[in-house]
Amino acid sequence: MAILSILEFPDPRLRTVAVPVTEVDARVRRLTDDMLETMYDAPGIGLAATQVDVHERVIVIDISENKDQPKIFINPVIEALDETLGEYDEGCLSVPGFFETIRRPERIRVTAINRDGEVFSNELDGLLAICLQHEIDHLEGKLFVDYLSPLKRQRIRGKLEKAQRQRD
Ligand code: NI
Repeated sequence: MAILSILEFPDPRLRTVAVPVTEVDARVRRLTDDMLETMYDAPGIGLAATQVDVHERVIVIDISENKDQPKIFINPVIEALDETLGEYDEGCLSVPGFFETIRRPERIRVTAINRDGEVFSNELDGLLAICLQHEIDHLEGKLFVDYLSPLKRQRIRGKLEKAQRQRD
């Protein structure tokens, strides 16, 4: 396994729309393993392939306390089950250090492919539902800062660019 480097806002590669995985083969399984290791190392609770500059529809999530319940979603498709919106303070490994309250549907159904190449369908709620929607946004080239006002987004962008310059 390997720890991959994570793209940071405003890197334009984060705006790439990911393509579906055509076959869950050894390469894709290795990608999910590397993404999990990268996410645990960061540490974070979710990671989309987009964030490690692989533009295929692959997501890993683990919201468990002991970090021992990895979930893998390949080519996920979701629908909201009702109109209820939940509010969460969201953060993102690609927007390090910033947390903002975002509203999203709280109950969803997901259909996706697992690491063994099998299709599954689940109803999700709470943090897992929120997290999956955040990660699917990444596959569409979208970031949580896009839900904020332009002024707020610009301020975050400025601070991150400054931090990135100081690091280079
Ligand atoms: Ni994110």
